[in-house]
Amino acid sequence: MITKVCCIGAGYVGGPTSSVIALKCPSVTVTVVDYNKERIEAWNSADYDLPIYEPSLVDVVRECRGRNLFFSTEVAKSIEEADLIFISVNTPTKTFGLGKGRAADLKYIESAARCIADYAHGPKVVVEKSTVPVKAAESISRILKANSRNGNCFQVLSNPEFLAEGTAIKDLLNPDRVLIGGPQTEDGQHAVRCLCWIYEHWVSKSNIITTNTWSSELSKLAANAFLAQRISSINAMSAICEATGADVGEVAHAIGTDSRIGPKFLQASVGFGGSCFQKDVLNLVYLCEVLHLPEVAAYWQQVVDMNDYQRRRFSNRIIASLFNTVTDKKIAILGFAFKKDTADTRESSSIFVCQHLIDEGAQVVVYDPKVREASVRRDVNMVCSDPERVERLLTVSEDAYSAVQDAHAFVVCTEWDEFKTLDFQRIYDSMLKPSFAFDGRIILNHEQLRTIGFQVEVIGQASKQRVASGFFE
Ligand code: NAD
Ligand code: UGA
Repeated sequence: MITKVCCIGAGYVGGPTSSVIALKCPSVTVTVVDYNKERIEAWNSADYDLPIYEPSLVDVVRECRGRNLFFSTEVAKSIEEADLIFISVNTPTKTFGLGKGRAADLKYIESAARCIADYAHGPKVVVEKSTVPVKAAESISRILKANSRNGNCFQVLSNPEFLAEGTAIKDLLNPDRVLIGGPQTEDGQHAVRCLCWIYEHWVSKSNIITTNTWSSELSKLAANAFLAQRISSINAMSAICEATGADVGEVAHAIGTDSRIGPKFLQASVGFGGSCFQKDVLNLVYLCEVLHLPEVAAYWQQVVDMNDYQRRRFSNRIIASLFNTVTDKKIAILGFAFKKDTADTRESSSIFVCQHLIDEGAQVVVYDPKVREASVRRDVNMVCSDPERVERLLTVSEDAYSAVQDAHAFVVCTEWDEFKTLDFQRIYDSMLKPSFAFDGRIILNHEQLRTIGFQVEVIGQASKQRVASGFFE
């Protein structure tokens, strides 16, 4: 019987996942621990100014915090008391050494495992929730066994998380499936049943898949690779559409109605962002290389290469449309988050579009409904080599209308709903002429914009100007 759960890592996964477990399992006390004091303070803030924005998250935290949900920096105490411990720490791409730029950096996983070994007394179920390379559970088990005292007994399970940001609470409450991998031993299977018991409070048994540990770890990487691959595939089609006059929206609809293909994840865009797709595909690529499977590695590497190409292609189209120079031209970037309904900007394609335009000397003005100025500056400075240039050319605006004032162009990089209902006549009147609209998300009413007078350039659609001037002759 599980009565106390500890979650190490109070981030995008640990926070929402623990909140939903606390909501659905009132008899279980859930403590989320993190060594980041500021983050924990924000989770505990009196006015519920939580460290991450997710629709409905605040309602769940309001209901459970102080009842059976706690946020704390007391890692040792929480580990000691818990029957079951989730490891939800970050697993970023390595930036140095062996596997640099591809392999997952497992130092946070290892430090969490060592903390568990140090502070645990008595048997514990340890659950790897972070996304990890296949066989990471074996390393965790070895660290635990080699460092534990008092003959402690640990069972290490894999339980990857499939939530998407912006819909985290919905995904957690109604998951397509929960995946649990564990050792095929009696104790291992007992631990699997304990974790199933937690989820069965709200997920039907038929939606809980149990596998061996390595299948579970690989399935997480595979799921993200397949999703990212679909986006790269439709983005590859968008390039053909722009060169031929086919429309990527029509192509996506036409192929998506084949029930074997299905309609989801066929939205062409300026490229996928987010903390995980690129990281996890590269992690898979590295794994294939280590396993001496170079053809398989090259196959998956193309998914990331296509994404980089799409971002560059979109920036190049902006520059080419603006008469091959953007130097000193004001360009408004609408949307900086990697998708709507989140303030997360990690690996957002907006960062790279800003970088390309700043490299060309454009005056870039960013507006995003949720992202704060400090995040925009931090991210752009991470990719631009010249901080003085960024300081001079990048500004962040409080609203869309001031961002576009006196601009040559606006560029939609994130599909925020509020962008669809902007007063485009007012925007047109305040911009320099000719006024350009670039839709990197295919969300605007292009005919309406053209009627107002904009030159409109859309991902996956040939430029009307170029078609009219005999592009196909
Ligand atoms: P995050 O960076 O938001 O949060 C991780 C937290 O762990 C940080 O607050 C960090 O301070 C803390 N931490 C690291 N080491 C620690 C330690 N030893 N002790 C205590 N705290 C420690 O990361 P995230 O976005 O929540 O992702 C976590 C994992 O889940 C990653 O492996 C990621 O790939 C995976 N994942 C993420 C998402 C997502 O939508 N973000 C979805 C599915 C899976
Ligand atoms: C993704 C997966 O969807 C989750 O299942 C997974 O748990 C998570 O990664 C993870 O492991 O971190 P997330 O990155 O939060 O979730 O968001 P997605 O909705 O998948 O979007 C990722 C990126 O792809 C965004 O930039 C989005 O705009 C883009 N995208 C998505 C497209 O360009 N086209 C599409 O059709 C769908």
